[in-house]
Formats: sequence, structure tokens, C-alpha cells
Amino acid sequence: MKKEVVLVLDFGGQHKELIARMIRGLNVCSEILPGDVSLEKINEIDPIGIVFTGEPENNLQLPDCPKMHPPDVEVVLHSKDGRTFMRDFLFNTCKASGQYNLKNYIEEQVKVIRETVGSQKVLLALSGGVDSSVCAALLAKAIPEQLTCIFVDHGLMRLNEGDEIENIFSKRNLNFIRVNAEERFLAKLNGVVEPEKKRKIIGEEFIRVFEEEAKKLGKIPFLAQGTIYPDIVESGGIYGTTIKSHHNVGGLPENLDFEQLVEPLSMLFKNEVRDIGRRLKLPAALVNRQPFPGPGLAVRIIGEITKDKLEILRRADFIFREEIEKMSTRSSQYFAVLTDTFSVGVKGTNRTYDRVVALRAVKTDDFMTCTATRVPYPTLERAASRITSEIPQVSRVVYDITSKPPGTVEWL
Ligand code: XMP
Repeated sequence: MKKEVVLVLDFGGQHKELIARMIRGLNVCSEILPGDVSLEKINEIDPIGIVFTGEPENNLQLPDCPKMHPPDVEVVLHSKDGRTFMRDFLFNTCKASGQYNLKNYIEEQVKVIRETVGSQKVLLALSGGVDSSVCAALLAKAIPEQLTCIFVDHGLMRLNEGDEIENIFSKRNLNFIRVNAEERFLAKLNGVVEPEKKRKIIGEEFIRVFEEEAKKLGKIPFLAQGTIYPDIVESGGIYGTTIKSHHNVGGLPENLDFEQLVEPLSMLFKNEVRDIGRRLKLPAALVNRQPFPGPGLAVRIIGEITKDKLEILRRADFIFREEIEKMSTRSSQYFAVLTDTFSVGVKGTNRTYDRVVALRAVKTDDFMTCTATRVPYPTLERAASRITSEIPQVSRVVYDITSKPPGTVEWL
């Protein structure tokens, strides 16, 4: 059966991914392409419908077709009216059958992976994030004996996280290698204060460690990556330009000798990747994991990074996450930051001069903008009380209520 696709043509603005996700949510496959895509390409895809997205000031001379141009598309798209409008467009105007779902995705990809890879070996840099984990689980299903995953533990993970990743993947049907590189990373980061410099050092060191391990394995022709659809859309991949290397740790070692990339998640949105992860029986905690920056806790410690500071932050972060997860208000990302400020406190009869920890929880759709979560006061009080009593080096806890913009999600 021919694949039914609705094209979302991008004439600028912020809404292309939101619209494409909404269409898929109504069980119709969508793809995003630039507004000036060639007619040949459109004919090749042979879409059942096309959505133009752009700002009104782009002055599209649009043919006579249903239009949605309210003051705030985002609000309308999330509303009942928006869904009714879209449903009407898809099922009455375009006569979509609404068959798109991920039920067969795993079987289809297993077949594609086997055909692509044959009997050759595949290497994957596993970070423990959702994308690389789901990618690993999918490849393990397709080519268990041929897959090797290297997990570079840079020592900047959250409490117990490295062990949890090892626990999950060392039991799966794949070759799992954990490299404990904490000392190496800390040595390189010694005395470094500037955030961008921290990121650069961690990114470079990651590649070096990964290369060293990969070389030990001999020649491996295929490199697998957990690239997902937004990575391609946001890095300009749909425009046919070269995809920028992600600012993530895990950026490709360029001089490694791979013949081909395997990217089995590259047409999926994040929610779809999570869905595949559930179907592959990855633990819920991993599949629902909040985003965690590649450079890890290094971008949550103001000033230089030391083992002691990492330990303090890990414990504070763990307590805050535990308290936040008890409440029903959802946040997109929530974590603790170790500031470089000290403040006076009292413990028992003594005056103390100890560290200040900041807590941050945000809500966002796309991480381009965000608002601080209105965490219920009792949750904040409990977190503050536990952090100051369970971690002797902390005397004060503050909650960050800044939106993005002007703030950013991370402090560094
Ligand atoms: P900001 O702080 O830029 O964060 O508002 C937006 C999202 O990006 C994540 N982030 C990073 N992710 N490497 C990453 O892989 C990084 O260096 C990095 N810096 C920020 C951040 O956690 C948030 O989800």
C-alpha cells in the first residue's frame, strides 16, 4: 500500500514541528520540507495534502485553501478547535485513512537494518540518553551479535546513573563496554572555570576516549547514531545542507574510519522514540528520562569542577528529583545547580559559612523558551530542608523562577 504523507512546507516561523507532530498524533504520517522544495521532490513523495506554515508577514500568495491564521497559532493548535480544524483537513479534505502508527515500525526497521548491515559489525556511542538507548535496543533486536556499544562514563553523570546504564545494557543482547574515564576528564577540567571551555574540553576528550576504545575493536564499518527527526530539521538537514555536528557530547569522531551511518530513528519525533523504547521494553525511568546535557554536571557547577563539588551536587540533585517526582505537577526538566556563593547559616549553636544550592524546574515544549514550574511550596520546603540537613556542606537553598528568555534553562 502506498504510504500516505502530508507535507508540511516551511516558510519560516516556529510552528512546523508542532504541526507535523499534531498530524502524526492524528495517525497520519507527516514530513517537513523547505518552502522552496522542487516540484519533482513533491511529486516523488506524492502527498495527500500539503500544509504551508509561515508568518503572515511572509505574504504567501496562497491558492484557495483552508487557512488558519489566528494571532497565536500555538494556542489554537493545542486547543479543541485546532484539532477539529486539522482533523477536518486530514480526513475530509485530504481523505486520509489514518493508518499511521508505530506498531510495525520495529519490524520494518529490523528488516532495513539487517539488509543494510548484512553480516558486518556496528558500533554505537551509548550515552544513556533516550535516543541512543532506544537506538541500541532496536539494533540489538536486529543484529544482536554484531552490535558493540561503548558507554564513555565521564564521571559527570547524576547519582548512580552510570551503574544504572550498565545494569540495563550489560543484560541485553549486545556487546557492552563501559569506559570509566572520570579521572581523565577531571584532570583535563582541573582549574577550568569558563563554561564554553568546559564544554569544548569534554567534547574533545569524549572523542579521544571513544576513538581509543573503537581502535581496540578492529575495523567496524558501520557507526550507529540515535539521530532523531528534530535533529535533522533543526540542523538544516531538510534543506539539503550539511548537518552541523550537534553541540552534544557524542559528536562524531570525524577521522574514524567508518563506511556508513545507521540512523534508525531519524524519521521519528521524541515522543515516538519513547513509544518505540516502551515497545522494546526499556525501563520506564530510562524511556521517560528528562533531557540531560552531554557535558553533564559540568554545566551545573559554577566555577571549577572538583570531585567534592560533584558529590555535593549529585546528592542535592537526587533529593530534589525525588521530591519533585512525588508531586503531580509535571516539569520538562528539573535539577540542582551548585553555585559558587557561600552564605552564613546556623547549625545547632554554631554559625556556619557554607554553600548555596539553586533548584530549577521548567516547563517547555521545545526548550527554545520556558517558564519556571510553579512547584508547590511544601515540595520546595521539603527539598530545602532535606538538602540542608542531609548535606553538611550546604547552608542555603534557593529556587530559580526565571523564564527563558531572558534566562536559559541551564545556568551555564
Ligand atoms: P539552554 O540552557 O540553552 O538549554 O536554555 C536548552 C536545552 O539544552 C540543554 N543543553 C545542552 N545539551 N549539551 C547538551 O547536550 C550542552 O552543552 C547543553 N547545554 C544546554 C539543556 O539541558 C536544555 O535541555
